[in-house]
Amino acid sequence: MTWDPATCIARTAKHVRQQMAGEATGHDWFHVERVRRMALRIAREEGADPVVVELAALLHDLDDWKRTGDAGGICPQARAYLASQAVPSALGEHVCRIIQELSYKGAEVPTPMSSLEGGCVQDADRLDALGAIGIARAFAYGGHHGRILYDPDQPPERHATFEAYQRSRGPTLNHFYEKLLLLADRMQTVTGRRLARQRHRFLEQFLEQFLAEWEGRL
Ligand code: ADP
Ligand code: NI
Repeated sequence: MTWDPATCIARTAKHVRQQMAGEATGHDWFHVERVRRMALRIAREEGADPVVVELAALLHDLDDWKRTGDAGGICPQARAYLASQAVPSALGEHVCRIIQELSYKGAEVPTPMSSLEGGCVQDADRLDALGAIGIARAFAYGGHHGRILYDPDQPPERHATFEAYQRSRGPTLNHFYEKLLLLADRMQTVTGRRLARQRHRFLEQFLEQFLAEWEGRL
């Protein structure tokens, strides 16, 4: 097999689509497609390598611990797939490094990215956890995992380790304080930060309305 970026990207999209179709927790193919589109948009504005960005965006959730239970972060499926596609080894390594560094790991755990391309993909992934779609995904995830909507007697936590974050079983509304509202300040690119601000405000408006309705004020 000879290396041709456009052919490889088309084949990868088809492969990921087959693997992730119909997934109901917010990590489905359409999430991947949105991240791909947004990551490429950020990459254009930031001058990042679009081939690395598109491949990493397409493969970023194939090994996600929430889907596969792989908390070791070695992304075996993405790695094996890239190796099967004659992807140049430096490029394949770059893509795998991005996937390994990508995930949110708790309020007190920094998740730096070691390349501009990684920043584009992480920002795009995190933008999809904000705004209207982010809200829909949070409640889809919470429902799937049997989480209650909200409990005023269970305050949000600040997780100091990835293990504590993974173990947490709090109400879905807590996730807004434990992750979603923290993302805008942690964007890696100027473009990502700009886009996150608007979606962040939408989350704040949603929470204000939710709590006002809960307390019978509206
Ligand atoms: P990351 O790659 O940073 O781990 P993803 O973007 O792959 O995150 O997926 C996280 C999605 O799942 C987000 O939309 C997030 O809101 C949702 N999610 C994860 N954990 C929870 C939770 N405890 N409660 C509600 N939604 C969650
Ligand atoms: Ni994702």
